[in-house]
Amino acid sequence: MLTNEKISLFARDTLKGLTAKNKYLLPKYFYDQNGSKIFQDIMRMPQYYLTKCEFNIFSEQAPSIAKALVPAHGPFEIIELGPGDGMKSKILLQAITDMQLDFTYAPVDISYHALDELSVDLKRQFPEIRITKKAGDFFRIMKDLSEQNGVKKIVLFLGSNIGNFLPDEQAEFFQLLSRMTAKGDKVLIGFDLKKSPDIIIDAYDDPAGHTRDFNLNHLLRINHELDADFDISQFYHHTSYNPITGAMKSYLVSKKEQTVTLNEPDKKIHFGKWEPIFMELSQKFNHEDIHHLAKDYGFEVSQNFTDDKNYFTDSLWIKT
Ligand code: AVI
Repeated sequence: MLTNEKISLFARDTLKGLTAKNKYLLPKYFYDQNGSKIFQDIMRMPQYYLTKCEFNIFSEQAPSIAKALVPAHGPFEIIELGPGDGMKSKILLQAITDMQLDFTYAPVDISYHALDELSVDLKRQFPEIRITKKAGDFFRIMKDLSEQNGVKKIVLFLGSNIGNFLPDEQAEFFQLLSRMTAKGDKVLIGFDLKKSPDIIIDAYDDPAGHTRDFNLNHLLRINHELDADFDISQFYHHTSYNPITGAMKSYLVSKKEQTVTLNEPDKKIHFGKWEPIFMELSQKFNHEDIHHLAKDYGFEVSQNFTDDKNYFTDSLWIKT
């Protein structure tokens, strides 16, 4: 057994979630190597419209987005939270580079490896861009980025990642965003819009079972990394969408009464029959929600860039 100090953050968070009255796991731990691979499958499947819609926005409207984002004069810094493979950012960076402006691109990611790969790739494609990587937890890095460095900021938070924050995390995120920006700074945030519940449910409960596998892989990760014995055939994937609140939630439900043993650290977790583990929130928004959010945290919605189906928006806010 590991001593307390040696327990990893993953172990601590997992234990906290599985011993809570209403069991839960944190979605940030979906993305081990296998989880990231399954997420690629999700993004490619026809039902998962989010990636395709946001890609449509960037490929059709990049020059207008770039024009609306960049300040009228002076150097600026583009801070991108969670750029992933940078597919959308590259389209935007191309449009901004075409305008021959002086700027720095600062991608922020939890994974050093992902950041290294991205910056090698970007340096090849855009040798003229200054890149300053920031590796670590968003919240910690946002705390460090004070508004006083004098350089104008553009913050990008794309891909509907905002939808995966629980209400408290969402509030903390916007407070930090507000604190790290000064009057006139701009942010571009990807929001998945409320739409037909059938379309949303299909995206999170697909016929090929990629989303089920993505969720079950979290249990497999616990098996590998915390030496546990989850039998994934005894859990099933359940989703629910509330069209009033816009909350799309995923669960894994225990098919029988069972006890799962974790060895690192040593803990037995009891499941009642039909007891759920809450796995993820994927919040959907309407334009009114977005407008209120911006206002509550000291921003003004300047423009919404939506796809041709009106499923998704990249919302441009200016700090007031
Ligand atoms: C990363 N994030 C925006 C995805 C979403 O749509 O909430 C994660 C995901 N979970 C299941 N499918 C996709």
